[in-house]
Amino acid sequence: MSEQKSFHIVTYGCQMNVHESEKIAGMLCELGYKSCDEMQSADVVVFNTCCIRENAENHAFGNIGMLKKLKAEKKDMIIAVGGCLPQQLGKAENLHAKFPYVDVIFGTHNLHKLKEYIQLKRTQRKAVIKVEDDEGSIFEGDKPLRTSYPNAWVNITYGCNNFCSYCIVPYVRGRERSRKAENIIAEVEELVKKGYKEITLLGQNVNSYGNGTNELSFPELLEKVANIDGKFRLRFMTSHPKDFSEELAKVIARNPKICHCVHLPVQSGSDEILKAMNRKYTVEDYIKKIEILKKHVPDCTVTTDLIVGFPNESEEDFEATLNLVKKVGYSSAFTFVYSKRDGTVAAKMPNQIPEEVSKVRIMKLVELVNSLTRDQSSGYVGKTVEILCEDFDKKKKLYCGRDEYGRMSYFESNNNAIGEFVTLKITKANGISLYGERV
Ligand code: 5AD
Ligand code: SF4
Repeated sequence: MSEQKSFHIVTYGCQMNVHESEKIAGMLCELGYKSCDEMQSADVVVFNTCCIRENAENHAFGNIGMLKKLKAEKKDMIIAVGGCLPQQLGKAENLHAKFPYVDVIFGTHNLHKLKEYIQLKRTQRKAVIKVEDDEGSIFEGDKPLRTSYPNAWVNITYGCNNFCSYCIVPYVRGRERSRKAENIIAEVEELVKKGYKEITLLGQNVNSYGNGTNELSFPELLEKVANIDGKFRLRFMTSHPKDFSEELAKVIARNPKICHCVHLPVQSGSDEILKAMNRKYTVEDYIKKIEILKKHVPDCTVTTDLIVGFPNESEEDFEATLNLVKKVGYSSAFTFVYSKRDGTVAAKMPNQIPEEVSKVRIMKLVELVNSLTRDQSSGYVGKTVEILCEDFDKKKKLYCGRDEYGRMSYFESNNNAIGEFVTLKITKANGISLYGERV
């Protein structure tokens, strides 16, 4: 009997991509391949790329380049490159010219056809290069191979209509479209039945779910999902502040399954920069949204995304960002240096900020965010928290999991606790990590 063939997927970028790699893995399993950890021994290698920042793109280019030698030794190995990078105008052809040994190139809109493309490649010598435009449709037949038990991700919207001036996502993910509520609810019901304990609803801007259709609004959908029977937690990301409503804050407050932790990307603390970013809110509007959230959910933590070095960002603009971070007291934040993306409005703006200036700013910002997180962590010592155990940290030899506020805690356990809700007494805080004992 011949040995079962295997696949290896390399994922770049966000949670959306991690979940899309699960869908790719599902398709490869249907073709009879099994997952393997080693790229060297795989029969199919897929690079699921991201182009949101230049460094993610360069990282993928570097890794694809490194496979040239291996492919020369293993001629039957199939290399596929897909997702956001090839979806950009002209990039699929560039990729093919630069890496002629890549067998399959596909985009974001035809990801669900990868199975077909791999089969086609197995029967023909030439490369399969297929990138499609957004047809506004949604593919519903995914059978993802979920790899993050007890956590599971569920798409609710695809694409984005916001066109923030720095962002390439609307160009590579197409116009916003919402899945039917009945399909989302059926998917979550099945996941809960299978034992998944934390469900995260995913979209570029979940708050605009259903806009322009007869579907439910996002708060209505969220409440319906929160009413599904069983013990599980519910999260959602990402919320655009301009669409974050009081109704949503009320839904969070009255449904205990919804975690008291909201990701609300602000990007900058300067009104001028926000305007140039086309974010459609001011700092004051943003703070009001947080006040509404805290009025209904006083213990809610807030996390955010921040960009430094946007064109024209002055020292004062940057100071305004630092001030906002202090004022809100984020529990954590993703911090980015602005990356110029071809085709976006911001790429054509004058006064692009020199790299050295951005570097100094990002260091200051990271230091501030870390100090906030550290202070909040030390306040946890002595408290009792309920965490959902999600992993075993091999280095620390400890199990770990998050509380509903998103804070990671580590603990010892004699049994495999992954998937269990565990009550811990926090005994120590070390930087952002907490350590506790089961009670
Ligand atoms: N440069 C830097 N950061 C960016 N993001 C999106 N586009 C860019 C860019 N061109 C960040 C934003 C967004 C997060 C997902 O990525 O902060 O919220
Ligand atoms: Fe990009 Fe803005 Fe859409 Fe987020 S909301 S994906 S930052 S365009």
